[in-house]
Amino acid sequence: MTSTQATPYKSHAFDPDDSGEFLPARALGSLALGALLFVSGPARAEDSYRWLQATADGWQARAITQSDACPAAELDGRAVPMTPRARPGEHFAITVCAATIPKGTRSLTIAGAPLPAPPARVDKVLVLGDTGCRLNGIFLQDCNSSDAWPFRKIAETAARLAPDLVIHVGDYHYRETPCLPGMSGCAGSPHGDNWETWKADFFAPGDALLRAAPWALVRGNHEICRRAGQGWTRALSPLPLGETPLCVDREQAYRVDIADPTLFILDTTEAEERTVVGAQLPFLRSQLAIAKDAPGPVWYAFHKPIFSLFRSRIGETLGINETLAAAAHNGIPTAVQAILSGHLHAFEALSFRDDRPAQFVIGVGGTTMDPHIPANFDGATIGEATVERGRGVATTFGFATFERGDGEWLVTDYDAEAKPRLRCHMRGRQLDCE
Ligand SMILES: [Fe+2]
Repeated sequence: MTSTQATPYKSHAFDPDDSGEFLPARALGSLALGALLFVSGPARAEDSYRWLQATADGWQARAITQSDACPAAELDGRAVPMTPRARPGEHFAITVCAATIPKGTRSLTIAGAPLPAPPARVDKVLVLGDTGCRLNGIFLQDCNSSDAWPFRKIAETAARLAPDLVIHVGDYHYRETPCLPGMSGCAGSPHGDNWETWKADFFAPGDALLRAAPWALVRGNHEICRRAGQGWTRALSPLPLGETPLCVDREQAYRVDIADPTLFILDTTEAEERTVVGAQLPFLRSQLAIAKDAPGPVWYAFHKPIFSLFRSRIGETLGINETLAAAAHNGIPTAVQAILSGHLHAFEALSFRDDRPAQFVIGVGGTTMDPHIPANFDGATIGEATVERGRGVATTFGFATFERGDGEWLVTDYDAEAKPRLRCHMRGRQLDCE
């Protein structure tokens, strides 16, 4: 199941999520004018997080603790030990614990605190992505401001909506380089692939939502081995770990243990946008075909969309991932109804004139937004695809929900306060947007 081969990562010459090319002009946060703010101090003894997540081996409760001992889980009143998945190591003075939770479990507690049980039925799916606070060279987001970086607010709002399942479409960790001297907006922030940064960027602000619903977690291109791969591998990867937490370049697709829709999580983090990279095609083709024998409707969740749409500064229409499009050519099973992605920092909903799955982009969870997203791009051509319905919501942080209706799914893009911004009805692969 686990590929450990070294993958020759091409540098992403063109990547809306990486380059800063599409960031708003105000790349630098506000200058220091007063006292420094600290949102994340040194590790506290009581750091403790817990959640339920889908893995390649079914549902697992996971916990992070700063003691060597794992907390106790209780399933329907029966004590079940959690065992260490990753022990403390360099830059990660935490133990990550895990316990398998059989489907059908009705109640679950970790150290006496309740967690949601595996969902018996999924009628409301909440999707968010691209949630971390960008610190990359001179591109510095105001991590200390809940308006400039609202992931905590989004997680708390989303938790109140009580979804049956949360899907994070990838890119959790954005604090790669230090905040610069004199920048009050990000002063005091940790950076790098270590526990303090993972805590500040994801676990602490996401805690309310981690406790509120079961999660399925997509790997983003920020979580590749040479970026934040250690934290991903220890805490969030769906794969089992050996004695040492070894990051793997390509994680095999797996099915989330829910009945309808049939949901697969894929790792498309390496897929090169600008050119077709032949060496990546066999793996990506095998992943995109994973649902060939699965009952429909199938949803795929993976980080980089095949087709999205944004405009360059000189007005070109862009948004195809060339390698994924080549891998997907005649290769996506007809049972696949929808693809859920992030990567582009906007909300988009696309259906196509040719017979393709609907594509959603939900990269609005907190990191700096991408500009130049049209509100309506019906009829646009993106590579070999022609858009039937194309809708975008730019510069509005938030999340989306997919709610089961009568023969359809109602898809709503919300802002951080749960005000709806756009609503689409998905029937089969087609979208109808209000
Ligand atoms: Fe990304």
